[in-house]
Amino acid sequence: MSSSAHAFARRASELSPMLPAAAPPGNIAFDSGHAFPGVLPDLSVEAATALAMYRAETLQYAPRTGLPELRAWIAQYMTSDGAPVSAEDILVTNGAKHALELVCRLLLDEGDTVVMTAPTYFSAIPIIRSYGATFIEVRQDHAGLDVDDLAGILDQRRRDGKPRPKFIYDVPDFHNPTGVTMPVDRRAALLDLAAAHGIAVVEDSPYRKVRFEGASVPSLKALDHRDIVLQLGTFSKLMAPGLRVGWVAASPALVARMAQLKTDAGSCPLTQRTILEFCAHGRLTQHIARVQERYRANRDRMVAAVRRDLPDVSFVMPHGGYYLWLTFPNGVDADELAACANRIGVTVISGSRFFACGDARHPRNHLRVAYSHADEQEIDEGVRRLAAAYAAVGNGAPAAAASH
Ligand SMILES: Cc1ncc(COP(=O)(O)O)c(C=O)c1O
Repeated sequence: MSSSAHAFARRASELSPMLPAAAPPGNIAFDSGHAFPGVLPDLSVEAATALAMYRAETLQYAPRTGLPELRAWIAQYMTSDGAPVSAEDILVTNGAKHALELVCRLLLDEGDTVVMTAPTYFSAIPIIRSYGATFIEVRQDHAGLDVDDLAGILDQRRRDGKPRPKFIYDVPDFHNPTGVTMPVDRRAALLDLAAAHGIAVVEDSPYRKVRFEGASVPSLKALDHRDIVLQLGTFSKLMAPGLRVGWVAASPALVARMAQLKTDAGSCPLTQRTILEFCAHGRLTQHIARVQERYRANRDRMVAAVRRDLPDVSFVMPHGGYYLWLTFPNGVDADELAACANRIGVTVISGSRFFACGDARHPRNHLRVAYSHADEQEIDEGVRRLAAAYAAVGNGAPAAAASH
């Protein structure tokens, strides 16, 4: 049957019938938030134990809310991070994106609105959009989401008699893509504002422990005395993205509802038990230190390379996370630059992908580059190729493909 014969649901009707083309072989990947292969933990002992000692559990359907011991471990992990929660507050999911999807299933009807920073995490956009919601974009500065801007927007909507947004989605620690971290006073102001308007806050914080320097800032969940924050967590950045295990932390009444909306018959118990074996035997703490060390070295290498090869480009130094958000001079079209870079041998993502609303006023001169996956030589070479693409786009000259 040709695809035109299908009567698509509204959420699918505008989707492209084609998947994006794979990057050319040999390209250096600065696009994705993939882990550095050398820091992926060896889980062979834990996986063998999970299969040998827990066969009746790991090869069986799991409880929909997650393995009780993993829920308890996550609760204790969050509590030691300043957010006192219990196992009943935790719903285990197939990663943070799945956690966001369950929050959307819980809270969104078609026509609802959601607040997002401009720019925001690009993968969150289609998830929220697929539930028929539209976006209210709020400004962001070097301290994260601009709470005064949001207050003005919410007051105006109230005066106009418009319904309140269903939730505010934000990445307060090492924001994806900008890398900025919201200071504690702004976090408190955001929660006061959200509470005053009766809006839930969805805190997506996968990079919280990927901190290279400076003191940790209390999470929104830790500051939440009114029970308005749903925190999304994940093992993707702490251990390995391929595990596909994350969680939502929310009140037990919300966890119970989301568990009923979870249609996967429970997240994989084998993976959950493997993670638990790793974490409960104390390996995670040591592993996080390795992760921080590796990504700090990668960040430093990329910062040095950008300063050397792209002196026209500015960025805010991230103190953690995986990304640099590059600002090219006004007039540079980052879509064109990203396409050219891809042809020249380095895959990057144009900043335009990170804006939820296709507003013509959004700047066109940003690129996000991930330093997480490449090694130090690849970082140097990738930035050199990006500089070549910039020179080519800037000159208006067609860029020749690199020989690699
Ligand atoms: C802000 C943010 N949320 C969620 C995720 C994805 O998490 P998961 O792999 O657990 O779905 C990422 C990964 O890049 C991210 O940057």
